[in-house]
Amino acid sequence: MPTDSLFRRVDAEGARTVEVTFDDQPLSVPAGLTVAAALLLGGVRQFRTSPVGGGPRAPYCMMGVCFECLVEIDGVPSRQSCLIEVADGMRIRSQQGARDLPFPQPEAVVMEVQP
Ligand code: FES
Repeated sequence: MPTDSLFRRVDAEGARTVEVTFDDQPLSVPAGLTVAAALLLGGVRQFRTSPVGGGPRAPYCMMGVCFECLVEIDGVPSRQSCLIEVADGMRIRSQQGARDLPFPQPEAVVMEVQP
């Protein structure tokens, strides 16, 4: 859940804001930033959990390399929040563990073995 942010925008005077939600909680964040930067400024500290050990994860590189910033945006999972500009009305959700593949699973193939 959001807490006090350690980050401060230096040019925040008069900056335009947009309204988003993170895990159904409303947030007012500065416009013109990436989703990751906006959430960090909004006090969000956990963006997802590790699919391996369940540990908390948050943005690390802020340039599209580490994939620690994955979130669901407007229903689309595994978006790199450090590469997407925040927009008014975005519905952002944290990700818990591994995501399902977005592709339909193929039907099982039954093979008969001839004696
Ligand atoms: S913070 Fe590293 S890929 Fe987004």
